[in-house]
Amino acid sequence: MVERTLAIIKPDAVKKQVVGDVIQRYETAGLHPIAMKMMSLSKPIAEGFYAVHSERPFFHELTAFMSSGPSVVIVLEGENAIQANRDLMGATDPQKAEPGTIRAVHGASIEANAVHGSDSPETARFEIGYFFPGMDLQSGC
Ligand code: CMP
Repeated sequence: MVERTLAIIKPDAVKKQVVGDVIQRYETAGLHPIAMKMMSLSKPIAEGFYAVHSERPFFHELTAFMSSGPSVVIVLEGENAIQANRDLMGATDPQKAEPGTIRAVHGASIEANAVHGSDSPETARFEIGYFFPGMDLQSGC
């Protein structure tokens, strides 16, 4: 089933200048970028995005990190895009991520873990609408 998922290339990966490498990995895996923008998330925008984690002890650190520099926010479309992107990213903690995954290659810590990807169809709908509200996104497949 063709799905859409939201990916974020986080501030650590932008700083390391690996945006091109990460996008290449998406495309090679059959995940087509159909909307993309570089933006600096404000703290409140990061807090709204990660609202589901607002009770977690790491919420402040996470949202401070996510608003520490520019990110690239991308809608990816492809066959089983949500799971495909999660497989490509690897585990949240780069030390536990499968070798060759984006987080294993580019992540430094559980916070500076290079990329984000939606974890379910409901989350993907919320996250895509959060960054691309009211947009009639065209299919890239
Ligand atoms: P992400 O996939 O963007 O979704 C939530 C983020 O919270 C996750 O990646 C991690 O970067 C971050 N996170 C999860 N657990 C911790 C933790 N224990 N300490 C700091 N950040 C965390």
